[in-house]
Amino acid sequence: MTETNKNLEYDQLYFGADETVSGVRDCTVYVVGNFKGGVGKTKTLTMLAYTSAVYKNRKTLVIDLDPQANASSILAKTGGIKIIDKNIYKGFIEGDLTSQVTPIMENLDLISSVTQFKNLPKLLMSKFPNNDEAQINYLNELLKPLKEKYDAIYIDVPPTISDFSDNAMMAADYCIIVLQTQELSLDGAQTYIDYMQYLINTYNKQLQVLGIVPCMLRPGGRVDDKILNDAKKSYGNNVLETIVKYQERLKVYDVEGIHLKKNISKTPDQWDLKAHTVFKNVLTELDQHQQAFEKVE
Ligand SMILES: Nc1ncnc2c1ncn2[C@@H]1O[C@H](COP(=O)(O)OP(=O)(O)O)[C@@H](O)[C@H]1O
Ligand SMILES: [Mg+2]
Repeated sequence: MTETNKNLEYDQLYFGADETVSGVRDCTVYVVGNFKGGVGKTKTLTMLAYTSAVYKNRKTLVIDLDPQANASSILAKTGGIKIIDKNIYKGFIEGDLTSQVTPIMENLDLISSVTQFKNLPKLLMSKFPNNDEAQINYLNELLKPLKEKYDAIYIDVPPTISDFSDNAMMAADYCIIVLQTQELSLDGAQTYIDYMQYLINTYNKQLQVLGIVPCMLRPGGRVDDKILNDAKKSYGNNVLETIVKYQERLKVYDVEGIHLKKNISKTPDQWDLKAHTVFKNVLTELDQHQQAFEKVE
């Protein structure tokens, strides 16, 4: 048994795998967004994808559209992978993403990013000259064969209004919005929602906000009740009850990859457990939102 498998079995034992891979569910595509950097998008995305794969037993794919490749780096470390030669840029050039998938661990795959992917705008211009709609729909097209293989696809994006975010939104079913509770600012989130609405109107796109995840990135900070109340006034039940507070362990995962270590007494490390539990709660709430949306449709 590999180390990964051992961990997986252990994780499921501890938390209980609450869903089996059935193949019944359709693939859902999520983008985690906010037009601001450093608000916790990549953290939220990598933890949700890990939770989806390990605790929910969903066949999960992460697509890293950010040329900074932070999500790729965290997940490569999570899977103990040193070198990744497949990447999104090759896939976009060749017009096939299925050959660019790197397995990370059981149920979790990655399409990695690379710095050269910053050339996406040029690439799209040369592939689809004078066709804006084809340019922003390219990822959506390339995802079609992958949707048959996965239950959940998570797309990470850079914090800019750009070909990257356009392609991600056009390919997604749901946006998960990250809200920085300490910056006293709903701006990045609201700009994102406004832009989403623009795409929906312009291209007749089906896209919903699945939930707004309050994230607090500074150590020692208090939850800012005013900003949370303002957010709830503006966005109602879209704002999750679960708040992702600052946790040193979540930061450590940038360097070490995501893990759940056992200590000498064979119980899970309490800080790992705390970090995993908060995102298990986030995913449970998001699932409830999704069920509610899909019931009324
Ligand atoms: N809840 C948290 N606790 C501690 N550190 C966090 C938390 N969320 C994010 N971070 C750290 O904050 C930094 C920015 O987060 P990141 O997810 O990369 O933001 P973004 O993708 O929005 O630019 C990273 O170093 C990350 O490890
Ligand atoms: Mg990021």
